[in-house]
Amino acid sequence: MGSTPCPNDCPNSCLLSPNIDGQTLSYPKLKLGVLASGNGSNFEAIMAAIDRSELDAEVTVVICNNPGANVLERAARWSIPTVLLNHREFESRGALDDAIVQTLRDHDADWVIMAGWMRRVTQHLIDAFTGRLLNIHPSLLPSFPGLHAVQQALDAGVVVAGCTVHQVELAVDSGPIIMQAVVPVLPGDTEETLQTRIQIQEHRIFPAAIALAAHHRAGQDG
Ligand code: GAR
Repeated sequence: MGSTPCPNDCPNSCLLSPNIDGQTLSYPKLKLGVLASGNGSNFEAIMAAIDRSELDAEVTVVICNNPGANVLERAARWSIPTVLLNHREFESRGALDDAIVQTLRDHDADWVIMAGWMRRVTQHLIDAFTGRLLNIHPSLLPSFPGLHAVQQALDAGVVVAGCTVHQVELAVDSGPIIMQAVVPVLPGDTEETLQTRIQIQEHRIFPAAIALAAHHRAGQDG
């Protein structure tokens, strides 16, 4: 992975765990299916990392559940196919996940990247991509899963916040942790100011965590 200067002026990677800077990670070129509900800044960070050759991958499809979400425009700018699966038009979570799994298969995706996917997933999706389904969440899990994680952290009075990339299990924002970044809470922080600094770290760790997870997986698969 390339070395990215820390925006907080700390020694590089001091806030990240594990630190994989300088390591050579080997894994087969990844075909990523991205699930996103909103703005898509994490999708954009993944595309930028691929563009800089820091992540050996291609995004084969972006699946979005919200018409008009900004991620759809971002994907179009990168010429990535998009599929809108509006959850409001499905009778159940299971029916939505059936359509998601089929769409991912149709687009040859072998990893699923939940980049701001704000829907609960079912066991069907988890089983279809065992060990290859990753989520990012704006807290140091297992603290503060679910909605409004940054406000939850502020309300709890924590002095360090952060973000987590993890494998996906059934409970919301749960599963084995792959990478975390710590973000200090500063005096006067609001949800917006803290969220902004957390997102800077999300954009650093998500591509790195995808590479790390793929490296581990390649080791397991022999
Ligand atoms: C990110 O902060 C991500 O951690 C969060 O949604 C945001 C999406 O931003 N995900 C969750 O809260 C999942 N529980 P983006 O659309 O700009 O990538």
